[in-house]
Amino acid sequence: MSITITQAPDLDPFAGIDPAIARRTAPVYERIRSVIPPFKWTGFAPEIDAILRLKRERNAIILAHNYQTPEIFHGVADIVGDSLALAREAAKAKADVIVVCGVHFMAETAKLLNPRKKVLIPDTEAGCSLADSIDAADVRVLRRRYPGVPIAAYVNTSVEVKAECDICCTSGNAVRVVESLCAPQVVLLPDEYLARNVATQTDVQIISWKGRCEVHERFTAQEVDQIRETYPGVVVMAHPECAPEVVAAADYTGSTAGMIDYVGRTRPARAMLVTECSMADNIAVQYRDVEFVRPCRFCPHMNRITLPKIRRALETLSHEVDIEPAVAARARAPIERMLALG
Ligand code: 13P
Ligand code: SF4
Repeated sequence: MSITITQAPDLDPFAGIDPAIARRTAPVYERIRSVIPPFKWTGFAPEIDAILRLKRERNAIILAHNYQTPEIFHGVADIVGDSLALAREAAKAKADVIVVCGVHFMAETAKLLNPRKKVLIPDTEAGCSLADSIDAADVRVLRRRYPGVPIAAYVNTSVEVKAECDICCTSGNAVRVVESLCAPQVVLLPDEYLARNVATQTDVQIISWKGRCEVHERFTAQEVDQIRETYPGVVVMAHPECAPEVVAAADYTGSTAGMIDYVGRTRPARAMLVTECSMADNIAVQYRDVEFVRPCRFCPHMNRITLPKIRRALETLSHEVDIEPAVAARARAPIERMLALG
């Protein structure tokens, strides 16, 4: 289940690379060499070098989600974080161009919060099973079925869905957002598991939708138990998009940033992150004293973002996120309500 990257000592990661590029990118390689095999670096170095140059030329910044692979997360990103942090940073970005290395709803959120900037996503197909699980018509049906009940939308939704909702939330603030509505009942969509996990932490009655994250829904409590048997003392952290039984089997539950913070504060000897696989690599770089047990489930959507696609996005200034102004105005309000909670 765990993956160990063993580096062959005789492989030169800079073999065949232009010496100037090798020199400029050497500090990045030094940082991530424990999680990048040398043969991969020969492909990454020229792309990273070109992207760093293009960012300067275009006055661009790169926002990268915690699930991006290490060569993006540590190699080219200016700001990394969970959905909430990326939304906050997008709102205050000063650069002319914002490249979002994440999935489509994250790029839409950036555009909603900073509409005058050119917001680019390197691959328009980088979607999300949660965002795909519900559309605006479904929300209107819920509105009619539960008159007077406020509707909170997880940010993992399209702009059209957000436009129909009262407030947004992320995995980092869902309980707080629900309670801020001061209502006995709240519809929390579209993630059924997030809704059920929030319900265990509040007296508000939560009405859920049937969406699931295709990555997190596959983890099981039995798997967590097996990992604990195989790796004694392992500290288990789970994302709230996992099933409630998995969350109950974990030592900590929180957003991607919450899990990173927990590792930093508690410094366990062994840790397992019940979430997307790249995140363990990203933090293993920072916390070398922590042994990460990797259950390894990749998000196919997050993984569509690659260095060559980021480079192309900056070269061609595509694919630009464009949101119809009337929808944007209605979708922005629930996100701003969330951000106003602090
Ligand atoms: P976070 O907000 O915790 O970063 O989660 C986003 C996401 O897509 C998790 O699958
Ligand atoms: Fe969506 Fe799940 Fe991928 Fe996150 S990990 S972007 S929720 S499919």
